[in-house]
Amino acid sequence: MTSFLCRFLQPAGAVYGRKWLLPSTWKNVARCASMFTLSETQEMLLKTCRDFADNELIPIAGELDEKRQYPKEQVKRLGELGLMAITTSEKYGGTGLGYLSYVIAMEEISRGCASTGVIMSVNNSLFLAPIEKFGSDHLKDSFIQPFVSGEQVGCFALSEPGNGSDAGAATTTSQSDGDSWVLNGTKAWITNGYESTAAIVFATMDKAQKHKGFTAFVVPKPIDGLSLGMKEKKLGIRASSTCNLILEDCRIPKGNIVGEVGQGFKIAMMSLDAGRMSIAAQAIGIGQAAFDVAIKYSKERKSFDRPISEFQLIQQKLCDMACKLESARLLTWKAAALYDEGEKVTKEAAMAKLVASEAATFVTHQAIQILGGMGYVQEMSVERHYRDARITEIYEGTSEIQRLVIAGQLLKEVS
Ligand code: CAA
Repeated sequence: MTSFLCRFLQPAGAVYGRKWLLPSTWKNVARCASMFTLSETQEMLLKTCRDFADNELIPIAGELDEKRQYPKEQVKRLGELGLMAITTSEKYGGTGLGYLSYVIAMEEISRGCASTGVIMSVNNSLFLAPIEKFGSDHLKDSFIQPFVSGEQVGCFALSEPGNGSDAGAATTTSQSDGDSWVLNGTKAWITNGYESTAAIVFATMDKAQKHKGFTAFVVPKPIDGLSLGMKEKKLGIRASSTCNLILEDCRIPKGNIVGEVGQGFKIAMMSLDAGRMSIAAQAIGIGQAAFDVAIKYSKERKSFDRPISEFQLIQQKLCDMACKLESARLLTWKAAALYDEGEKVTKEAAMAKLVASEAATFVTHQAIQILGGMGYVQEMSVERHYRDARITEIYEGTSEIQRLVIAGQLLKEVS
């Protein structure tokens, strides 16, 4: 695909050098201490996304939120810019950039509109990435190209009404029948559930086997035997849809398995490793948006005859907000850069998501505090940022699950 971005950007291999990476023996400490230098390509990507957020998302984000309206035109524009398939290789029509570029773009788009951010995130890291990484040629040919342009979006169906954190306890079943797989069960909390034209659905062939019985399927939508639950009425990210997918004897072709039978749980976990970096970037974008409003307001708003920015208690808030955002950004960029180097980033991605989502919760809370009453009303955007931030501590694994994942990895490292 010759997207708008591709015309300006260099090919994937030239995106960024390895200059900041040192030999693996230095891994944790030295890599952390190394500086990130954005390449020309990444600077261009950042500028493009920043301009898009400022000019085409920020002016309408409040209205989209209030009307709970899917940002159809904006998603198409993201497709034209190559942002709906940033990491997908050019061979399949994607932009072919790495994950560091992806998180840079995600932060900016989410700074403009968090709902648009999650729509882009699910399509990139939870739909296209697993199909490209694990899918057959047939699946890649059928389900990548139509989903890079923003005209169609995909979704990822892992959670169920009875199990979210314990993903391995899923009860949706798959049965082989002639040339088809027959799926039965209900998937819950599906982002892009309404607008998507295909879903990756995780189902079990044998519940007794728990995660080992899992398989991933691509289910085209609409299809007989698949219906949608009601659109959830949410606290935040209201311009994106969330609903149940109800599968009743839903027959899909045999060839629609992603990877191997029984490999589904690992595919889900590996996809979430990548997805968590993206949600970390979304959280940073939301926090940054709130911070930008708060610091500007603090210089304009006077109290006791002085701008409130002159009060040290306000300065302390601004300082803590900025430090948390910057720490989260560094963790996220580090995880993404390591992933681009081909490393497993289960721990790093979980750390990035944990720190970034808690930073977003903190920063948006403090932003309301700085704005006082003005922070509590819709006239200013921080009340929306406050609501949008909350989900980042829940989806793609709660903060509690991230802590379990991080501790599990830490303990493995010393065994
Ligand atoms: N990469 C590769 N393999 C992995 C892995 C990873 N990150 N994590 C686990 N595995 C493998 C393990 O090695 C193990 O393999 P073996 O069977 O060969 O030993 C297998 O998977 C099972 O691992 P665990 O025993 O650790 O599995 P568990 O049942 O204890 O669960 C968990 C682990 C971390 C709690 C997991 O269930 C989890 O991540 N839960 C949260 C689910 C989640 O994030 N849901 C998000 C829904 S999607 C969403 O929100 C999208 C949206 O709409 C925005």
